[in-house]
Amino acid sequence: MGDPIKKTIVVVGATGNQGGSVARTFLKLPHWKVRITTRNPSSLAAQALEALGAEIVHADLSDSDTLAIAFQNAHAIFLNTDFWMTYRTLTATMVAQEEHQSVEDPAKVAYQTEVSHGKNAADAAARVPTLERLVYSALPGISKLTGAKYQSNHADSKGAVVDYIETELPQLAQKTSFIYLGAYNTNALLSPILDPSDGRYRYFLPLSKAARMPIIDVKESTGLFVRALIEDEAPGTKLLAYDNNSYLTYGDICDIWSKASGNDVDFTTVTVQFLHESMKIPMELISSLPALEEYGYTGSLKVIQPGDLKTAVRTKSWEEWMMGRDQKAILEA
Ligand SMILES: NC(=O)c1ccc[n+]([C@@H]2O[C@H](COP(=O)([O-])OP(=O)(O)OC[C@H]3O[C@@H](n4cnc5c(N)ncnc54)[C@H](OP(=O)(O)O)[C@@H]3O)[C@@H](O)[C@H]2O)c1
Repeated sequence: MGDPIKKTIVVVGATGNQGGSVARTFLKLPHWKVRITTRNPSSLAAQALEALGAEIVHADLSDSDTLAIAFQNAHAIFLNTDFWMTYRTLTATMVAQEEHQSVEDPAKVAYQTEVSHGKNAADAAARVPTLERLVYSALPGISKLTGAKYQSNHADSKGAVVDYIETELPQLAQKTSFIYLGAYNTNALLSPILDPSDGRYRYFLPLSKAARMPIIDVKESTGLFVRALIEDEAPGTKLLAYDNNSYLTYGDICDIWSKASGNDVDFTTVTVQFLHESMKIPMELISSLPALEEYGYTGSLKVIQPGDLKTAVRTKSWEEWMMGRDQKAILEA
């Protein structure tokens, strides 16, 4: 018999950045029980959450039977799907085996894997009679929002999961909200590089300084926003989640980085091709960046912003977070 007062939230991806924040937030709330899923219950991250009171269930997003067990009697589910582990593993294998032509594109395989993971979890969630709210951590489907002018497999995959829930699982859609996280506070796009040609720190981006980026402290803030979506907001809400005063232009980002690091910083607009060919940055990371300037982070997607939430969510700004960091760590990021 479950506790008659407490509700149960199942957190998928709790051993990671986003899910860890959600799990820790709900573990502090006396009216919630937290169940986390992991493929490796003995990992340090899983054990740390168990020590805080979480129930641990073994589940894999590629195995629907494990999801059905993990989701039993859930009132809420937070679902995060990961693109990058599949992508990195395949890319590393290709490099190790010196296979550059013969195997499938790692970005395409990671896209398909993430979509199948999202669909498996959505199908399992749709079969849970006690479920009141699913929150899926999405990203704007860039291909759809830009009429295929730009493509981003790691965002388009999450957009495809949103479309699947909204079109194929209408009853689940009535219980689902979506969180669109801004760039993590630690994202490499927020750190300049040391230009060896003149020893100056410089952002090289296919953007102007007017381009705006929403930024979130993923480990601190994700759980607070997910709580708001579960406890206060109507289902169907799409929230662009970013920290207080942290939807910044690159001009602002340069100023804050300079103040926090104690170093001057330059900003140079370059093409995607230059970043890929001269700086060897994989296309998957950069090809859709110009869309940020042309369409905005969420394009024509109908989202609410943190200031629209019924209950205010208090977060530190990116500037406060940066000013609290060690200068050496900032320069080495
Ligand atoms: N970097 C950014 O600025 C940014 C911004 C917005 C969104 N995102 C998106 O955030 C996602 C990554 O989230 P994160 O940073 O929280 O991830 P993370 O810290 O790398 O952790 C990945 C989590 O996914 C779980 N997981 C991976 N494969 C799984 C599977 N087959 N079955 C069940 N669980 C699985 C892992 O659990 P176990 O290993 O314990 O099983 C782990 O908890 C990416 O898709 C990325 O596109 C990133």
